[in-house]
Amino acid sequence: MNHSVVEKNIGLMAVLIAAVISVAGLVQIVPMLFLAETTEPLEGIEPYGPLEFAGRDIYVREGCYNCHSQMIRPFRAETERYGHYSLAGEFVYDRPFQWGSKRTGPDLARVGGRYTDLWHEIHLINPRDVVPESNMPSYPWLAERTLNGETVARRMRAQQRWLNVPYTDEQIEEAVEATDGRTEMEAMIAYLQSLGTNIQRNR
Ligand code: HEC
Repeated sequence: MNHSVVEKNIGLMAVLIAAVISVAGLVQIVPMLFLAETTEPLEGIEPYGPLEFAGRDIYVREGCYNCHSQMIRPFRAETERYGHYSLAGEFVYDRPFQWGSKRTGPDLARVGGRYTDLWHEIHLINPRDVVPESNMPSYPWLAERTLNGETVARRMRAQQRWLNVPYTDEQIEEAVEATDGRTEMEAMIAYLQSLGTNIQRNR
């Protein structure tokens, strides 16, 4: 086809651009859905426990991802600071994933075990009590609000049923008692302490 025909006909050009983008998109996206590397959990990666899972929901609710990424890139400056770079198989039970795109604060992908529970508690109630120059907001209500175990169990059920997260019915039943009445602070800290710990054990 004569190229000038396309250049002079914006309708035709739009259709052809759409065709090129669709094919290119499919070529990149479709194989990802079948690659074991992106769909199979790495050794040691388990679905979140009930309290961690509840904490993760609060992390999403509070928008922590607006300032924190959970994605360590394979560069020396990053691995020296945060630990082993992130691998696709770490995120198979992260629905939705919390990679984030902004780092006002540090990456949290491997923050588990870096601080004590008490440090996290003080930090979340008022970050400036432990890091005077911090501009992270305070989240004092986490210490006051409590979890509803039934809600947590229902959220886990949805993950099991619709997203194929391999929770057993027993785990979901036990989640009610394991989380009911616990504070949101406990859940958030359990979640933070779990981040990246599986992979550290294996590598
Ligand atoms: C406005 C941006 C902002 C938001 C929103 C935010 N943070 Fe932060 N966060 C920071 C900054 C800046 C630091 C570094 C200073 C400090 O430690 O307080 C930080 C540090 C941290 C650290 C210590 C990380 C390390 O390796 O030292 C943790 C854990 C953390 N934040 C958790 C959270 C959680 C959980 C939430 C949501 C409830 C949250 N942050 C929301 C900005 C933010």
